Amino acid sequence: MKIGIIGLGFVGLSLASVLGSKKYNVVGIDSDRKKVSTILSGKSPFYEPKLDIMLKKALAKSLQISSDIQFATSNCQLLFITVGTPPSKDGYIDLTKVKQVAKEIGEALSKTVNKPIIIVKSTVAPGTTNEVIKFILEKYSKKKAGVGFGIIANPEFLREGKAVDDTISPHIVVIGGNDQKSISRVKKFFLKMHGNKVPLIETNHQTAELIKYANNSFLATKISFINQIASICQSLPETNVEDVVRAIGLDPRIGKLFLKAGPGYGGSCLPKDLQTLIKFSSRIGKKPILLEAVRETNNFQVRNLMILIKEALQKIRGRRISILGLSFKEGSDDIRESVSIKLIRLLLKKQAKIIVHDPKAIENTKMIFGDKISYADSVKAAIKGSHCTVIMTPWKEYSNLTNNDLRLMKRRLIIDSRRLLDRYKLDAEYHAIGIGE
Ligand code: UDX
Repeated sequence: MKIGIIGLGFVGLSLASVLGSKKYNVVGIDSDRKKVSTILSGKSPFYEPKLDIMLKKALAKSLQISSDIQFATSNCQLLFITVGTPPSKDGYIDLTKVKQVAKEIGEALSKTVNKPIIIVKSTVAPGTTNEVIKFILEKYSKKKAGVGFGIIANPEFLREGKAVDDTISPHIVVIGGNDQKSISRVKKFFLKMHGNKVPLIETNHQTAELIKYANNSFLATKISFINQIASICQSLPETNVEDVVRAIGLDPRIGKLFLKAGPGYGGSCLPKDLQTLIKFSSRIGKKPILLEAVRETNNFQVRNLMILIKEALQKIRGRRISILGLSFKEGSDDIRESVSIKLIRLLLKKQAKIIVHDPKAIENTKMIFGDKISYADSVKAAIKGSHCTVIMTPWKEYSNLTNNDLRLMKRRLIIDSRRLLDRYKLDAEYHAIGIGE
């Protein structure tokens, strides 16, 4: 069996590399020739732990990389669509790439007798696979779904920074479709890939699509909930949100995961998926009261940080402020929707002098701010001479800051958005999200 994967971002490249490393006959397709040549040299175009090793292994075994959709459509039995669906200007999702790929597969299908199953992994709003993608495939192939090709919705739940592990051992596989033959074949593929340790949920297209949005919106809700509690703690002397989480997390109905208060969630998924569900819900006439409150709470977190900084510094103009951590989470170089970037924008507006550090995301940040801010290649260089250090991303090395390091600062003032440091051991003025003073 040959497998095609169209779109080599986090999801597609991780899947292609994992399958190739297990000797599956797999071809990864991307229209971006520069990206294709980087991947062919054994390097991932973005930072993702373990991915380079997996990719090299896969290339040495059975992974082919190409830009040829006709070849993949004519030769593969399973064809995954893993192109991005970024946010659109109107606050919904931009389906341009998905539609383009569907058109190209449709045209390729019209020239082949092969009958692949097209598996949509890209995150798309409920109804998109069955209405938009299937329609385009049928139009350009002049074939009927279920007869000339199969179509399945199979949302992806992998996390950046854990993409390889999550591809190998996902917590769930969702298979949405309406033709039993395609569902059975895709189920067989995943059973072979993961064994029967991973729960397989079989459903229709639109439920599969909705599951993805419900999943990510629930995660966003948990984070906003705990950030709200963190704000309450900040106004309640001698409280710490960590103590609250330790207790409520022991209630099995709540659980302790995804309850880390912080600067607010970022990244390419949570903000976008919540926003799409808000729009989708409004479009079908259901007022998304809770979802809107989750978004608003998240948007407020950067203001919460600004308040902490302002109250501690009094004057921001001309002050040298060090920002530790730029990526939206540790283990990643991704700065999409990163709260650090939003904070830097607000601080620049107030005419602060900004110096930043991040182990992986400096290059991406330079593309946004250029020479408007300074970049440090070590934590010590970042905090030297500064009036305030703001800890944003929970990279491990920031937890190792010592009093000796802090003596490099002009004023020893720490704003800790993730409570990485122990305030009782610090010889510095310390304020944190979620800690009441
Ligand atoms: C998310 C989903 O977890 C994943 O299942 C889906 O496939 C893609 O979207 P990802 O965007 O990689 O994954 O990041 P995630 O680990 O979910 O973190 C998102 C944001 O929430 C980060 O900014 C993180 O710092 C923040 N977060 C997470 C918190 O503030 N507190 C938490 O307890 C957890």
